[in-house]
Amino acid sequence: MTIAYASGKAILFGEHAVVYGRPAIAVPITEVQAQATVENAQQAQGIRIVAQDLHRDYLLRDAPPDDPLCFTVINTLRHIGQPLTQDLIITVQSTIPIACGLGSGAAVATAIVRALAQHFGHRLEANVVSSIVFETEKLHHGTPSGIDNTVIAFEQPVYFVREQTLEAFRVSRPFLLAIADTGIASPTKIAVGDVRRAWQADPAKYEEIFDEIGTLTVMARQAIESGAIEVLGQLMDANQRLLRLLKVSSPELESLITAAKQGGALGAKLSGGGRGGNMIALVTPQTKDRVSMMLRLAGARSVITTEVH
Ligand code: PMV
Repeated sequence: MTIAYASGKAILFGEHAVVYGRPAIAVPITEVQAQATVENAQQAQGIRIVAQDLHRDYLLRDAPPDDPLCFTVINTLRHIGQPLTQDLIITVQSTIPIACGLGSGAAVATAIVRALAQHFGHRLEANVVSSIVFETEKLHHGTPSGIDNTVIAFEQPVYFVREQTLEAFRVSRPFLLAIADTGIASPTKIAVGDVRRAWQADPAKYEEIFDEIGTLTVMARQAIESGAIEVLGQLMDANQRLLRLLKVSSPELESLITAAKQGGALGAKLSGGGRGGNMIALVTPQTKDRVSMMLRLAGARSVITTEVH
């Protein structure tokens, strides 16, 4: 049996604007993981997929062509030159909440690609894994920027610009994030679709907001590279103000953001598609416990503290 894993991710700066060509910064979150196993089946049954968290157990040949798990399996087997006519059991499970901005779809797909490649003795480069997963992301999102598959496949902080080569990016001074879940599932596709319609109705206004988010992201990269953590917090707050203008925040996200700031966070914002899902707060070793407690008291479903390095 072969096992492979993939981490979750959080977007620190630039969500939504990244779909329109502006830069974004994302980091892997290793505290949450997707896992895929591949084993040769004993009976002649074809390829069977067991998605434990979704309580699904089905055969690839019975699934619709746009089933994301099957789509990933087919693309990967084609890529490594393996026939679809073999008897395999592929099991997936994940501790990443679904539709919460932590990259669950991309992480599950990445774990499948890695497990299949490993099972058949192939070593796929991160950019190859990323491009296979990007095809699956299109099923989930419609018009994904590609940031999720990139940060998860490369397993390192990324400064990402759509359709451009990934730039090396150094975190000079590690910093801490508290990540809190509103508990509200919010499919990225809907938020991205709403922003697109608003942009189509008033392109000048939205292009200006995207430009401002892009400028903040460039400044955030400099702050991370130079270890200016206080500045980073202010930039997160500024990014959140612009996300509000894009109408992707929500009362639940706002109350967690307020709680984090009251607890002493240096900055706080939603992360990912918004409307629900997760928010992130920049904390220090001194404030992390207080901020986590404030987030829980404000109704966070879960709080993870992670170090970005
Ligand atoms: O909701 P998530 O974590 O999948 O993030 C989506 C990020 C967006 O910028 C809103 C969309 C995209 O494709 O980049």
